[in-house]
Amino acid sequence: METRFLHDIEVSAVGMGCMAFSHGYGKIPPESYSIEAIRGAYEHGCTLFDTAEVYGPDLSPLHLGHNERIVGKALAGVRGEVAIATKMMPGGGLGRDVYRTLRKHLEGSLSRLRTDYVDLYYIHRSGGLDIEEAAGAMGRLISEGLIRGWGLSQVDVDVVDRAQRVMPLSAIQNIYSMVERDSEDAVIPYCVEHNIGFVPFSPIASGLLSGKITTKTKFERRDDVRNWVPQLRRENIAGNQPIIDLLARYADLKGCTSAQISLAWMLHKWQNVVPIPGSKNKERIVENLDAAYVELSDDEFASLEGTLNECTVYGHRGLGGF
Ligand SMILES: NC(=O)c1ccc[n+]([C@@H]2O[C@H](COP(=O)([O-])OP(=O)(O)OC[C@H]3O[C@@H](n4cnc5c(N)ncnc54)[C@H](OP(=O)(O)O)[C@@H]3O)[C@@H](O)[C@H]2O)c1
Repeated sequence: METRFLHDIEVSAVGMGCMAFSHGYGKIPPESYSIEAIRGAYEHGCTLFDTAEVYGPDLSPLHLGHNERIVGKALAGVRGEVAIATKMMPGGGLGRDVYRTLRKHLEGSLSRLRTDYVDLYYIHRSGGLDIEEAAGAMGRLISEGLIRGWGLSQVDVDVVDRAQRVMPLSAIQNIYSMVERDSEDAVIPYCVEHNIGFVPFSPIASGLLSGKITTKTKFERRDDVRNWVPQLRRENIAGNQPIIDLLARYADLKGCTSAQISLAWMLHKWQNVVPIPGSKNKERIVENLDAAYVELSDDEFASLEGTLNECTVYGHRGLGGF
């Protein structure tokens, strides 16, 4: 598979979001299935795996590190071949000694991930933090060899710029898909200009862009974000039908799936983008990775983009929340 750079970290053009093995999309699979799915992704060419310390059932503090443990177990035998990205959640803040707080969180992650370094360490939410101080502390962790690079998630361009001036960033992880395009205005262009990778989360809009969700789809009751993702409200699924139809037409034209077109669109648009689609299903994980092989010509892209720009998007999450 084509590789791309998140600053100086080389990874497969499509990565894998591992969250749903622990949280966010209803019932979680047995651990053995999740481990096989992660290994299967690696064998299929995936070299970027995304997790976070908070990913556990119901995001309960009791389950802190649930997902990191699975990822660590699955990748232990191929650690040198892959990039592991994880995130720390500051909770009430980073305290007086920012470096010590970050290091404490990181040490927990390292132990659960069965490794002595992480490739990419993100601050999961940075609202209210002294971003310059956090950037300085991340620089120290890099110089100590505990992390290879650092990043921020769900941030606007002002925060990115303040951080970048203190310690160059490897990647920004914001929500981004054909129906969540806020980052196109300033964040992605800034990242292009400063050699920072951009890692879209929820790139398939929590399943909407696969075309497999209809107004009749029932989501799970427990720990399922699709109950509140605005584009998945019944009336908004109906409103977004022209976008779903557009993807289906292109999927037909290119002999692939709608989910793959939605990923191929962003891969074509930006050279620094590495999406991390999430799935609990081994076949769909492979399908999503294979989006890296779907090539849109410049004309196909221009026509897809032009039609997309004419569509109204119903529902918006933006950079403010989860
Ligand atoms: N930084 C942050 O704050 C943040 C927030 C959210 C997520 N993330 C990261 O981003 C990753 C991806 O985000 P996400 O999981 O929310 O959104 P996503 O990748 O846009 O969508 C996941 C949903 O789409 C379905 N799906 C995936 N591929 C499909 C396909 N080919 N065909 C049909 N349905 C498909 C999945 O169902 P099945 O499981 O049934 O396939 C699941 O319900 C997460 O795993 C996590 O690592 C980060």
